[in-house]
Amino acid sequence: MAKIAVIGANGTIGSRIVREALSRGHSVTAVVRDPAKVTETHPQMNVTTADVLDVAALTAVGNGHDVVISAVGGGDGPGHIATIKPAAEALVAALRALGDTAPRLIAVGGAGSLRKPDGSRVWDADGLPEFVLQIMHAHGDALEYYRTVTDVRWTNISPAADIQPGERTGTYRTALDELIMDAEGNSRISTEDYAVAVVDEVEQARHIGERFTVAY
Ligand SMILES: NC(=O)c1ccc[n+]([C@@H]2O[C@H](COP(=O)([O-])OP(=O)(O)OC[C@H]3O[C@@H](n4cnc5c(N)ncnc54)[C@H](OP(=O)(O)O)[C@@H]3O)[C@@H](O)[C@H]2O)c1
Repeated sequence: MAKIAVIGANGTIGSRIVREALSRGHSVTAVVRDPAKVTETHPQMNVTTADVLDVAALTAVGNGHDVVISAVGGGDGPGHIATIKPAAEALVAALRALGDTAPRLIAVGGAGSLRKPDGSRVWDADGLPEFVLQIMHAHGDALEYYRTVTDVRWTNISPAADIQPGERTGTYRTALDELIMDAEGNSRISTEDYAVAVVDEVEQARHIGERFTVAY
């Protein structure tokens, strides 16, 4: 069983990752800014506080864990956009400080940089709102940063273009940099099945040093 720290544990995606990990018998440290927002309890879960931009706090969080998962971001505002790449840099710096004992790092990414069958990227589509474009490019910048990192065992997992709370089916498909679409041309995943894929990656370590995407 793995010892997993989840940053953004009270978020839409983070909370599903916590639930999936606990259901499989892993130990979880829920890392949040406000412990009052963690309403669930579990014998295999403890709660601690840290901001994802605080390198020293992240090093303390990472110490003694097998995997650190970051599911931070959220909202339509400038805070979300401004957090994504600096969070990647802070997480890498924090884990790098732990040297040979550093946990793996799994980061929730974005779908914007995925390629469509015509070669364009999701963020090239016409009519995307400006704040959506900025979030997509912030995730793209974070991914480009991760791709320069060779001394921390990172994995970046892009959701489908559409990820919503829903059903846990336990099934999904993966690709590296290509947008996965269903027969109707939709790119979808539930947050529950995305969490299944994240915890599968914790257990199987099939994508160290690369990005992959998860969809039906
Ligand atoms: N299709 C896509 O590409 C797609 C779709 C959805 C989401 N995403 C990405 O997935 C990530 C998570 O999204 P979500 O929908 O789960 O968001 P969410 O429900 O708003 O949760 C975001 C989490 O991040 C935490 N957080 C924000 N800033 C933080 C900081 N500085 N330090 C520590 N924690 C911080 C929040 O904590 P507080 O409660 O303390 O604010 C919250 O737990 C985001 O990066 C988002 O861009 C991608």
